[in-house]
Amino acid sequence: MNDELLKIKEEAISKIDKASSLKDLSELRLEYLGKKGKVSLFTKNMSTLSNEEKKEFGKALNDAKVSINDALEEAILKAKEKELNEKLEKETLDITLPGLKVNKGGFHPLTKVIDEVEELFISMGFDVASGPEIEEELYNFEKLNLPKNHPARDNQDSFYITSERLMRTQTSPVQARTMDANEEKTEIRVICPGKTYRRDDDDATHSHQFTQIEGLMVGYDISLANLKGVLEVFVKRMFGDDREIRLRPNYFPFTEPSLEIDVSCSKCNGKGCNICKNTGWVEILGAGMVHPNVLRGCGYDPDKYTGFAFGVGAERIAMLKYGISDIRSFYTNDLRFLEEFNRVEGEVLK
Ligand code: DAH
Repeated sequence: MNDELLKIKEEAISKIDKASSLKDLSELRLEYLGKKGKVSLFTKNMSTLSNEEKKEFGKALNDAKVSINDALEEAILKAKEKELNEKLEKETLDITLPGLKVNKGGFHPLTKVIDEVEELFISMGFDVASGPEIEEELYNFEKLNLPKNHPARDNQDSFYITSERLMRTQTSPVQARTMDANEEKTEIRVICPGKTYRRDDDDATHSHQFTQIEGLMVGYDISLANLKGVLEVFVKRMFGDDREIRLRPNYFPFTEPSLEIDVSCSKCNGKGCNICKNTGWVEILGAGMVHPNVLRGCGYDPDKYTGFAFGVGAERIAMLKYGISDIRSFYTNDLRFLEEFNRVEGEVLK
């Protein structure tokens, strides 16, 4: 019986040595040391032995169990280590590879322009006001001294929603709304940025949706000199300290006198180039002294109060400031265009 046990023990140890997985090893444990395992079966036959033999065989049996168990434990440790190494090998992380690029959002160039303008005017004591994009005719036209059938309404081809409501063609109605809403009829300083709409065919210089920034200052003894002073600060801040402004007479129904303001061309410095059509000046905004009819219509006494107003296109500012030649670029949302305005200094786009 001893020889047989020895054979079984050697057979078990040799199988354990060859086993390559934890699963095989657990099966081998069952095969040899389990309740009905090959080694346990020897216990059954022990009843036939004498006491002396029992003692001796018991020792051998125990020795076989311990040896097989030790071999199993050792093999299990090795198998676990092997499995771990294989897993690690598969999951290797090369920390020298470039990381994944996180695409951060950024500000649209028009938002940047509006933010910059707001910041400047707030520093000069102005508030920021807004009005509805679907506007009443009353505010878009009538209160701005453009009665029904006024020929200047034709200059602003409108999108009508009903017979009395339209997509606002300008931000000037916010002037009238601000004056109307000021119940005490006190002094006003506001700018009003916002979207505006006209039935234009889109091309490089026209867009049916565009952005205006309106300015209004109403008070005692406000004069053209105040308008010129404020706009000079504005132009120098947006386009640089070297820029000059030029005032030309113009016509707007809501201002008298009305002006067109030009800025000296930053590309050629006034010498003449394709940007300024060889004039040295670039048209930038419309402005004027608020018409007495507009003041009166909004409850302000024109004998007591005067004011100036101006309106400027945000796209126009951005196009001149950043050298953009097609107004449609603001609305097609090509990421390559938008990313140009949100680059970290020194970063090169791929
Ligand atoms: N609303 C005018 C336009 O869309 C721009 C403008 C001109 C606004 C003169 C004004 C102004 O407030 O005084 O063409």
